[in-house]
Amino acid sequence: MEKLTGKKSNTAVFISGRGSNLKSLIKYSKSKYSLIKIKLVVSNTINAKGLNYAKKSKIKYYINNYKNIAVSEKQIFKQLSRFKIDLICLAGFMKILSEKFIKKFKKPILNIHPSLLPKYKGLNTHERVLKNNEKYSGSTVHLVTPKLDSGKIILQKKIKVLKSDNVKILEKKILKIEHKLYPEAIYKILSNL
Ligand code: GRF
Repeated sequence: MEKLTGKKSNTAVFISGRGSNLKSLIKYSKSKYSLIKIKLVVSNTINAKGLNYAKKSKIKYYINNYKNIAVSEKQIFKQLSRFKIDLICLAGFMKILSEKFIKKFKKPILNIHPSLLPKYKGLNTHERVLKNNEKYSGSTVHLVTPKLDSGKIILQKKIKVLKSDNVKILEKKILKIEHKLYPEAIYKILSNL
């Protein structure tokens, strides 16, 4: 990554849980290579541990319990407009954004998925990878489209699956590469815009 100057993209990160990717994105946003400014963290649950990273860095957060998808998306959209968001990064967000929402936002929405897409879309990727004795796994950052885990791939990183790996080990190894991959993918997409 090289240092680029210019206006940073106002970014919202959507989470549902642990938030280790949010933590790495916050770190990236503070680096000299950063092309983003994290203005908002959105969570669909008050229990998301990742909210603590937002609090620590004094980043505004918005919680919506998603009782009704259409209503929730409208409310989230209001927040995105309020903070003039021009990039959304999904990071372990367990809700699926509607086609209407994606089309209305018009700007890039990225997601990080813990597999070598197009293989292993959806949940429980590590279990399935191990069950199928795959030699490789990894992580993918892609653009979000209405079809789950299917948008254009921005960056992908591969690791070897070892015989001694179990779900926990594989998850840990993949998270480690994700924490570098997501900032790199953001850099790639924003430096090309
Ligand atoms: C990551 O493995 C990501 O690929 C997937 O959900 C997990 C989120 O982890 N979409 P964390 O909450 O960022 O720690």
